[in-house]
Amino acid sequence: MRIGFGCDHAAVEMKNILMDHLAGKGHECVDFGTDSSEHRADYPEKALAVAEAVKTGEIDKGVLCCGTGIGMMLAANKVPGIRAAVCGEPYSAELTVRHNNSNIITIGARVIGPELAKMVVDAFFEAEFEGGRHQERLDMITAIEEKYSK
Ligand code: RB5
Repeated sequence: MRIGFGCDHAAVEMKNILMDHLAGKGHECVDFGTDSSEHRADYPEKALAVAEAVKTGEIDKGVLCCGTGIGMMLAANKVPGIRAAVCGEPYSAELTVRHNNSNIITIGARVIGPELAKMVVDAFFEAEFEGGRHQERLDMITAIEEKYSK
């Protein structure tokens, strides 16, 4: 899978660790930055870059890391068609793919450590969407997006 990675200044090390980890599992990893913990990088800019790349098909899925994972999730979900979920344990990471067909996972680098984060992203990328009744619910989310995009 072609996976895009983005982070703010609070999560550079986590982004790099997860990128190396997933590259080691055979994924093609694309780095959208940032690379500096010293200079401020605002999470909405990185979230937008990765979310737009998912939307255009430049990448298949995304991993976004910030202090809590929450800011990245909120910003990415503003792009129609993006289903970003912050996950701090593997069960949610698996289910957000199986049921929500999430295309971006967000990680809180100040919330969980790197070993747990690796387990979380593994669960995310090993899961498959189940479709059926879950697709019907995603269609309802799309209808909400369309209602408020006019
Ligand atoms: C940056 O200080 C912090 O606000 C950010 O990384 C993230 O936690 C926001 O949701």
